[in-house]
Amino acid sequence: MSFENLLPRPPDPMLGLIQQVASDPREGKIDLGVGVYQDAEGRTPVFDSVQQAEATLCRTQSTKAYLGAGGDAGYVERLGAEALGGGHGLGGLQTIGGTGALRLAGELLARGLPDRRIWIGQPTWSNHEPLLRAAGLRIAHRDLTDPSRGTLRHEALLDALREAPAGDAFLVQAVGHNPTGIDPDPALWEAFADVAVARRLVPLVDLAYQGLGAGWREDAAPIAPLLERVPQLLIAYSCDKNFGLYRERVGALFYRGANAEETAGLRDHLLAIARVSYSMPSDHGAAVVRTILGDPRLRSGWLAELTAARDRVARIRTTLARRGRIGGVDFAALGAGRGLFAQLPLSAAAIQRLQAQHAVYLAPSGRMNLAGLNDRNLERFLAALDAVQRRSAA
Ligand SMILES: Cc1ncc(COP(=O)(O)O)c(C=O)c1O
Repeated sequence: MSFENLLPRPPDPMLGLIQQVASDPREGKIDLGVGVYQDAEGRTPVFDSVQQAEATLCRTQSTKAYLGAGGDAGYVERLGAEALGGGHGLGGLQTIGGTGALRLAGELLARGLPDRRIWIGQPTWSNHEPLLRAAGLRIAHRDLTDPSRGTLRHEALLDALREAPAGDAFLVQAVGHNPTGIDPDPALWEAFADVAVARRLVPLVDLAYQGLGAGWREDAAPIAPLLERVPQLLIAYSCDKNFGLYRERVGALFYRGANAEETAGLRDHLLAIARVSYSMPSDHGAAVVRTILGDPRLRSGWLAELTAARDRVARIRTTLARRGRIGGVDFAALGAGRGLFAQLPLSAAAIQRLQAQHAVYLAPSGRMNLAGLNDRNLERFLAALDAVQRRSAA
């Protein structure tokens, strides 16, 4: 092997976009690309509750000694209880963000599944497939787009699962679907549970935006049929969005085997995978979440901040939906979505023109982060959208 064989690779499109936005000197640039919450001033602030928890930790934390490959057990237990209602025979461990949880889940599945196959509906978060492939899985996908309705047909994944070999896995996003904002409805969640039980499939649920969809409790409710009825399952959790802790990389992986012994075996494998990958997760962000969830005053302050963020994004969605159609973009249809994202049906040329001529940044797929809009830039964004589409039509 020679390093000469390692040819340059194209930069990751989303990480490249962060740099492009940062280095764009134009006044009033509009960043709808990167998937982080922004407030009405266009800032991604540190939550007050987080700052208070950090101050408490500074005063009270008495050691920085190692915690072990599973991370902060108190954090995992509290998060499991708060987010998923506790119980259900779930085990859990702290991970490096939701991404780390997905990666551990992928490696576990690659060790355990007979055919190492996972089913994924497209479109999905741009890192899902590369990450799970790198973990050693084979990807089978189904196109979920339904151009006639401008929305997603999650049923297409369900249809594929009805034919899938026993022992395959499938990925579903719980809430605030990235990139479309269109989530499966309750009947579909029941159907996912039915098919998983009937065909002995393993669901991998990606729960990255709890509290930013319909509500803190409401956003975990749809996965109840899986929790209650499917013996083996994995839930990759991110606290990076709902606590605004992005760069602290706070996540967890919850897991369950067919019985207590199998669940214990899963834990052994997960700890072993973590140990040879990064040894153990870093402490700070998880300690912050544990501190917030363990203190009623901080917890209610955090919930109020999360609610304000969710309400702001929902208001933007409603405002856009009222505007109806702008060229090929039907905002009325996007009104049915939830969470930060919507996918605009724009050509690559139109996305490029938005960026070059109007300093409006979308993800290369046309995904927009609604939180990037506010009272000052919304009209400008809509005018730019109109202009670039007229150019394409001309
Ligand atoms: C659907 C989805 N899952 C997982 C993640 C990973 O989150 P984290 O930043 O906690 O690694 C993201 C991040 O954008 C996401 O959109």
